Amino acid sequence: MNYNKKTVKDIDVSGKKVLLRCDFNVPMAKDGSGVITDDKRIRAALPTIQYLLDQGAAVIACSHMGKPVATFESYKKKQLEKGKDEASITEEAWKKSLAELRMEPVAARLSELLGKPVILAGDVVGPDAQTKAAALKPGEILLLQNTRFEKGETKNDPALAKAMASMAEVYVSDAFGAVHRAHASTAGVAAFLPAVSGFLIQKELDFIGGALASPKRPLVAILGGSKVSSKIGVINNLLEIADTIIIGGGMAYTFSAAQGGKVGDSLLEEDWKTYSLEMIQKAKDKGVKLLLPVDTVTADKFAPDADSKVVPAGQIPDGWQGLDIGPETVKLYCGAVADAGTVIWNGPMGVFEFEKFAAGTKAVAEALSQTGAITIIGGGDSAAAVQQLGYADKMSHISTGGGASLEFMEGKELPGVACLLDK
Ligand code: 3PG
Repeated sequence: MNYNKKTVKDIDVSGKKVLLRCDFNVPMAKDGSGVITDDKRIRAALPTIQYLLDQGAAVIACSHMGKPVATFESYKKKQLEKGKDEASITEEAWKKSLAELRMEPVAARLSELLGKPVILAGDVVGPDAQTKAAALKPGEILLLQNTRFEKGETKNDPALAKAMASMAEVYVSDAFGAVHRAHASTAGVAAFLPAVSGFLIQKELDFIGGALASPKRPLVAILGGSKVSSKIGVINNLLEIADTIIIGGGMAYTFSAAQGGKVGDSLLEEDWKTYSLEMIQKAKDKGVKLLLPVDTVTADKFAPDADSKVVPAGQIPDGWQGLDIGPETVKLYCGAVADAGTVIWNGPMGVFEFEKFAAGTKAVAEALSQTGAITIIGGGDSAAAVQQLGYADKMSHISTGGGASLEFMEGKELPGVACLLDK
């Protein structure tokens, strides 16, 4: 994939109407109060928004939020599949689910952060959006409703893409978190307007793309998380690029079991044992150092107050489960990080949400904060861990994309990037 894309700086946006796709899919309080619990993604879009406004563009911002179901029929079908009782599936319940995914809280927060009003449309391409977009003046910003309220959005319907494009003269994408989606607002719209990237996408491409294409070596990839199955693509791709691959988290037990180790009640993906052995072999063939845990912190139950003990890897007793990497593994992994030129980290080393089993993840985060290497944290759980542990400021780059950064590291083409104009 060509990462060398035109940016907002490569075109003239002054006096133009700019359709700006952001990823404002922010976490909200579970009580339906509309409180945004982490506004990182809104803040991450500010440099591009501010630049466009300063250049005298009229900004028509848009984003998806959550996974609304655009019609009652599909909502009903989904609820029935989830095993819900038919009588409880009402139009009212569907409308409530949609109301919780409206953009009002984002507009309010964005307005606070920008220090200026954000006009909010009641629809995406309907009469309200069209009227407000037409009246929008240079230096003003309009936010459309949740793009997924339109059923053509996730289907990448050209009619929806065209309708969105018709409100603007230029398309700028800064929605890195959604570039792995070929949707109307993330990719389709680029067929109808000159399309360039914002500063956030640029930064993500520079860091992650740079680390994959021409890393400062040695390149060390730390892969954790619960399942081998969700990291196959990444392991496979990084085996072609990295000098060292470090495996932690729940997926290490599948590797251990595949080599004949005893894993007790630990997470295990039986079906992926053969694959794990193939990866070990592939690493040997390619001369990539593959580091696996040498010891494990085990627990007698999956709970924050579980009894725990450290055992050698592959010797987890029946009734016990591995919830973190052990102290010897920590030394081994931190040593590898210390000498690195670039470190990519995706997935925690253990159940860091439980204090007792957070030491491995904490130690790796600390090691990353102290190394002279370029440190890149994939979105999702690892980003949350680094933030929760207080090391966010010490990393070179924390990706704003969960699925997007994973697919990027898998070497997949990202539709939301591929659709932008090449430099
Ligand atoms: C994310 O949260 O990873 C992005 O906003 C993409 O959301 P999605 O998985 O619902 O497409």
